[in-house]
Amino acid sequence: MANWKMNGDRSFWYNLAEQTALQAKEFKDCKFVMFPPFVALADVENALFEAEKNVELGAQDVSNYEHGAFTSQVSAEMLTGLGCSYVLVGHSECREYLGQPDELLAEKIEVAQAKGLKTVLCIGETLEEYEAGQSVQIVVEQLEKCLANCENSDLLAVAYEPVWAIGTGKVATIDDIKPIFAEIKQSLLDKFGSKGDNVALLYGGSVKADNANEIFSVDEINGVLVGGASLDATSFVDIARNA
Ligand code: 13P
Repeated sequence: MANWKMNGDRSFWYNLAEQTALQAKEFKDCKFVMFPPFVALADVENALFEAEKNVELGAQDVSNYEHGAFTSQVSAEMLTGLGCSYVLVGHSECREYLGQPDELLAEKIEVAQAKGLKTVLCIGETLEEYEAGQSVQIVVEQLEKCLANCENSDLLAVAYEPVWAIGTGKVATIDDIKPIFAEIKQSLLDKFGSKGDNVALLYGGSVKADNANEIFSVDEINGVLVGGASLDATSFVDIARNA
């Protein structure tokens, strides 16, 4: 999954979408999802018009309201109307810079799923919490609170992104990651029963082609959520190649 964040401009987005889709063709058994900025969605949908079915479109956030007087917000229905099938919820940058708490994220998931959007819930601890040995506790707490209203595990994926590994070049070690994914998996099984096993789990934080192989060696990990390396089609699709 490619999170473009707030990067690029109109010609850049179109080219990146086209090139990524073209290169992704080779990997029919992988699913690729692009998350461009809101204002790029229409152009990217056009660029993906002839893309294979393994490339899908998503948005980086969604309103917790259905419609109405909510200046600046973007509804789930607006996103599906632009061809989105996915949405990110609770990215650490939205939590930190937009002050989005878990309770709000729970509402976003509910509203988005009601419109059929697949929600990718992002969770992860800060450096301070990591150093205090609180990673598992924080991540499980975020998961429980954000999924308080979620009953549809079919429309859910979970991305674990340690905040201290985002954009820093620091990748969590396999020893860091393994117990956390085991806990996430167990929490999902506790909540959804055996269906919890079908929720896709992703890792995010400085993922590149040269560390992808190691990340995918963790049994529970089904995919990766990529920031910086997704801004170049070749470096993004090389992640799939190396994995
Ligand atoms: P980087 O890959 O740039 O570390 O970003 C990760 C991320 O935040 C994806 O959502």
